[in-house]
Amino acid sequence: MTSEVPMESKQKEVVLHVEGLKKYFPIRRGVFQRHVGDVKAVDGVSFDVYRGETLGLVGESGCGKTTTGRTIIRLYEPTAGKVLFQGRDLAKLSGSEMRSTRKHIQMIFQDPYASLNPRMSVLNIVGEPLEVHKIASTRAKRRERVAELLELVGLNPEFMRRYPHEFSGGQRQRIGLARALALNPDLIVCDEPISALDVSIQAQVVNLLEDLQEQLGLTYLFIAHDLSMVRHISDRVAVMYLGKIVELADRETLYNRPLHPYTEALLSAVPVPDPEIEKTRQRILIEGDLPSPANPPKGCNFSTRCRKAKPICFEKEPEFVEVEDGHFCACHLVPPKK
Ligand SMILES: Nc1ncnc2c1ncn2[C@@H]1O[C@H](COP(=O)(O)OP(=O)(O)O)[C@@H](O)[C@H]1O
Ligand SMILES: [Mg+2]
Repeated sequence: MTSEVPMESKQKEVVLHVEGLKKYFPIRRGVFQRHVGDVKAVDGVSFDVYRGETLGLVGESGCGKTTTGRTIIRLYEPTAGKVLFQGRDLAKLSGSEMRSTRKHIQMIFQDPYASLNPRMSVLNIVGEPLEVHKIASTRAKRRERVAELLELVGLNPEFMRRYPHEFSGGQRQRIGLARALALNPDLIVCDEPISALDVSIQAQVVNLLEDLQEQLGLTYLFIAHDLSMVRHISDRVAVMYLGKIVELADRETLYNRPLHPYTEALLSAVPVPDPEIEKTRQRILIEGDLPSPANPPKGCNFSTRCRKAKPICFEKEPEFVEVEDGHFCACHLVPPKK
């Protein structure tokens, strides 16, 4: 008998492992700033991201996507849980190891204007990480590398003396991307990078991200607030609701056979390209308001708005488990894999 490793597992190298991640923001009141509760922005999130893939992370505004991204890259200290980058626990690394590991993970932001310092020229914005990490030792070398990076993201290197306000939204997103690429990252957390852009520009930025991924072997965690935005770019998609991931599957499975009632409802709002299917598309309205993450419902977080909820859903929190190969779901109505 041969003990060959199946192709699948040979190809899949976990770049990012997130396990039971929580980020609570304390709520303080009064003159004594008494701790009266927590905003449970991220409340027990687990997933892996494989090398070279794009994992889409989708959910409505306020569900905790940005906080997840910021906690992964350690802009926030996690309240609980683990983040392993290429098998290494970022929390356990020493200062210098942490710095050298951190540069392999970068983030780009929704609002490229707010995230670029308006008083810095493009040369300094893109060159800053090189300077901080002492990569390009001389000014001339730094300028050379910045020119290379600008070209990589489709900007004219002659623009490097200009300031952020002289660029369009799409160009500013490219500047942010050039800065993120300066340190040759493996993983980029893209936090709604196209949401603030004109529809006509969105596709250009997505195409650029895809080209760069292929060229540089990048891995993306791509955050968006609706399913139509991540469909094209994602290999797998995770759906988030009120601080938790409710469903995760490869793209085809998630769009064609969603299992969680929340994913079904979100998908029912996405137009289908096929006009015949589009004609019969039934919208499932999600009723009621989004509960506050400071006071989430008992049982399943989605129970208060779920049209399929049963008594158990109001009592017990469903576990996030594998229900089919590679398809994860947190719902009492979906039986776990046998
Ligand atoms: N720094 C913070 N302090 C307190 N609450 C926060 C902070 N950042 C985010 N939140 C709250 O955490 C929840 C999740 O926010 P966020 O991660 O920005 O969601 P999303 O990116 O999905 O819109 C929201 O209720 C938001 O108000
Ligand atoms: Mg956000």
